[in-house]
Amino acid sequence: MPLSSDWWRSAVIYQIYPRSFADSNGDGMGDLPGITARLSDLRELGVDAVWLSPFYRSPQHDAGYDVADYRAVDPRFGDLGDADKLIAEAKQLGLRVIVDLVPNHTSSEHAWFQAALASAPGSPERERYIFRDEPPNNWRSVFGGPAWEQTTDGQWYLHLFDVSQPDLNWANPQVRAEFVAILRFWLDRGADGFRVDVAHGLVKDPSLAGWEYGDDTVLGGLTPQDAPPPPIWDQDGVHEIYREWRSVLDEYEDDRILVAEAWVQPAERLAHYVRPDEMHQAFNFEYLVTPWAAAPLRAVIDRTTGANAEVGAPTTWVLSNHDVTRHASRFGFSDGKDHRNGISARDPQPDAPLGLRRARAASLQMLGLPGSAYLYQGEELGLPEHTTMPDEFRQDPAWERSGHAEPGRDGCRVPIPWEADAPSYGFGPTDASWLPQPASWAELALDRQRGVAGSTYELYRAALRLRREHDLGNGTLTWTGSQPEVLAFANGDVLVLSNFGDEPVALPGGSQVLLSSGPLTGDGQVPPDVTVWVRR
Ligand code: NOJ
Repeated sequence: MPLSSDWWRSAVIYQIYPRSFADSNGDGMGDLPGITARLSDLRELGVDAVWLSPFYRSPQHDAGYDVADYRAVDPRFGDLGDADKLIAEAKQLGLRVIVDLVPNHTSSEHAWFQAALASAPGSPERERYIFRDEPPNNWRSVFGGPAWEQTTDGQWYLHLFDVSQPDLNWANPQVRAEFVAILRFWLDRGADGFRVDVAHGLVKDPSLAGWEYGDDTVLGGLTPQDAPPPPIWDQDGVHEIYREWRSVLDEYEDDRILVAEAWVQPAERLAHYVRPDEMHQAFNFEYLVTPWAAAPLRAVIDRTTGANAEVGAPTTWVLSNHDVTRHASRFGFSDGKDHRNGISARDPQPDAPLGLRRARAASLQMLGLPGSAYLYQGEELGLPEHTTMPDEFRQDPAWERSGHAEPGRDGCRVPIPWEADAPSYGFGPTDASWLPQPASWAELALDRQRGVAGSTYELYRAALRLRREHDLGNGTLTWTGSQPEVLAFANGDVLVLSNFGDEPVALPGGSQVLLSSGPLTGDGQVPPDVTVWVRR
């Protein structure tokens, strides 16, 4: 595959969660050599790039989003040589590699924070973080509880996430310089770009004013649609940082990219992150949180593509990631709630067949849209959330910090199944798995789906092949039809039609069906909760 310019505008990017993708040494924790050995499977699936969640040295209090050394690989995952081999093998296979950058906070075990604790209040070491003599506001940690923690000498530091994740002070020039150096470190090693964690959080309103919280948790909580952003998030000052980073990336060949993880609304404000001299992409979380329903989906597709077009950026599409309930389970509810913050055995359980049916329809709709799409490992197998995980296994800090009010994100992070009859379903050479795998996953293992007509894996593979053949990622969307329970759009020579209603709907006369997320009716109609691609 040629490494063409502007590849990211239409790319399908597969998120690898290193802890749970493939374990080469049997310790129950995925690792870089495990990933490298499985890259050819992703080539076969047909994605363009991979994004790896953090694999840096870390005490793992937030599964690696607490980085102690941005230039080292955590021994649990391998070493720098393994990272180099992974990048080299990916390039060999024509896959790009995006790494995760965590600039909002470090781990409390980072040398800088240790130096800050060992230094006096007011010292330059403390200036790299946000220390105060008293908590200046009521801010909450995204994982629950207060966002200020007291140190032994009486000062307090800000942590928007876990207490082990102190926020950096982005007004400090050393912080800025350090992250430019980290960018260069990974660019020089061949990284094709960065997914930027909490991209909307780096700069806080200097007033550190209080904030009146609504009902929403902040994790997975978008900034308000119709009001100014809170003093914590989406401050205009962040953009100057990304302009500087963009100029660094532009020094390198081959279109290296920046992708914003920014839970920002409205779409016009999110589009600021992807102005021509800033980032390349921003995750479209408004789309992710939209229920499986025709009218709201059409509205969000219009809103987000429209806002991005204003700044000349493509739109990205995403349905699942390591922070939200897998969409095969979210869509298994019809109660109007989004269930995105995890499901426990005590909660109402999703209708699994309905969820899978809708997930397949949603994924086929997403892959028919122009722009770039993100897949989360295992969704190509139709994996549901682990919705009955015993609580004693939970490791997400959100579970403890929320006082067990939220089950947290462990249910979407379970090691994925490759081989039905192997130990740990082929995740590794032994039975070890850092989170328990549900027994029902055996039948979803890759080796049970590969080559099986109608399997979710073959649906994704066919969709990715057709998407490339018809260049759908670079196309334009034109709505067609007027039935309220149907969404139909033309993209080039392909018509994408999804039926959200209760009755089958007819296809336009003479349609040649290219792909369908489920069987059509005997007389060739599209059943409820099915998406079809037809040649126009
Ligand atoms: C967003 C990441 O995706 C999530 O997993 C993490 O807990 C927070 N940022 C804090 O880094």
